[in-house]
This record gives sequence, structure tokens and C-alpha cells, in this order.
Amino acid sequence: MNDKERVAHHAAQQIKDGMLVGLGTGSTANYFIEELARRSHEGLHIKVVASSVVSAIKAQSLNLPVLGFDTIQQLDVYVDGADEVSADFDLLKGRGFDLVREKILARAADQFWVLIDPSKRVDRIGANYAIPVEVMPFAWQMVKRNLESLGGVGDLRQTANKDGLVISSYGSVVLDMVFDAALDTKTLNDLLSNTPGVVEHGIFCNLASVVLCVADGQVVEQKVG
Ligand code: 5RP
Repeated sequence: MNDKERVAHHAAQQIKDGMLVGLGTGSTANYFIEELARRSHEGLHIKVVASSVVSAIKAQSLNLPVLGFDTIQQLDVYVDGADEVSADFDLLKGRGFDLVREKILARAADQFWVLIDPSKRVDRIGANYAIPVEVMPFAWQMVKRNLESLGGVGDLRQTANKDGLVISSYGSVVLDMVFDAALDTKTLNDLLSNTPGVVEHGIFCNLASVVLCVADGQVVEQKVG
């Protein structure tokens, strides 16, 4: 079992009967979904809501009861991975690029459990990855110019084989932008959130409740706040 799988299994063991569980997106979230489905087949009664089309399809294929996103107001726990976690528990997310539903679920959940392996820990958000910024397609040039005026450098995200642009489930394009390290995360978070045409971005401040990581083969839970 690798570290992502170990931490995902540990999280799935903490889910209790009757919970409404938000499913994240990515390889770690997939391990969680698989283990949750296994427990559900053994008799655990839960309902789930998915942060992306791909996670909804996966959950449905494993016979988990998936609720429509627009039918819920609140959930017990949202469980997802992250690309970076800073010492003060700010997160960078979005290599899977469906940021809107991820951030809505993280905010609507009583608890947000973040599942990482040690490679995700960073000194500052943006240390390893550009900041993904989901943008209304018709506004991307004006948004890009705005972000460049904040010192950002980057461009539209392309598909893996570079034959087109990545489009989110809801039709947004993604600007991957690198900003000066001197710009602190919370300031950058506010600047991006206040830029017209930005649908959502990958900085998640003050949203994590618990970070679960593996150290020496054991899962360690860090409660935030
Ligand atoms: C998707 C995400 C993922 O949680 C993040 O990219 C981590 O992915 P993985 O678990 O595959 O390392 O934010 O938008």
C-alpha cells in the first residue's frame, strides 16, 4: 500500500453511519472512494456528493448513493487531496482543475479532511506549482492582463498531449500563474478572489479542519485551529 492509499483508507475508516460525505477528485480521493464503497457494501449507511463529474461517475460505478450537488445545503465531511499544504495549513488545489465544486464543498462541510503524502508539504503556497485560476472563457485575456499587473506570469493550461485547452466541467478555461514569492498567500488569495472574470482559484485559506499525512508508515492527524 502506498502513502496515498494508506491515508485514504485511514480516512474512510473514520466515516460513520448516517454521514453525508463529500468526495474529492484525484488519485488520493479515488483511493478514498474505493475504500468507502467497500465499507458501504459491508453495511455502512452513507450518502455522498461529488466534487467533479469524474468522481461522481466513479462513485456511481461503485454503487455509492450519489446525491445531486444542487440538492444539498450542507454536508458532514468533505474529503480530498491537495497539491500543496503550507505550515499554517493553507492549501493549493486544482491539478484536477474543477475548483468551483471543490471549494464550495470544502466551505459547506462541517469538516474538511485533507489527505496528503509528505511530498505535499511546502514552505509557501506556489513553491512547487503554478496557481490554477479558473476563468470565464470570454474574459481570459482581460483576466490574464489583470493577473500580470499583479506580477503573475503564465498561460492557459493545455491538455496533456498539447492538442487543445483544458476545459473544466462547467466550461471554464484555466490560467496557470506563477507569482512572486514576496506576495503572501492570503493577500494573493484576496486579490484573485476579487478579480472579475475569475470563477475560482486553487488557493484554499482557512478551510482545512484536519490534515492527514503519513510519517514512518503511520497516519498522523493534525487538527487545524
Ligand atoms: C484536484 C485536486 C487534487 O486533490 C490534487 O491535485 C491532489 O491530487 P492527487 O491526490 O492525485 O495527488 O486538487 O483538483
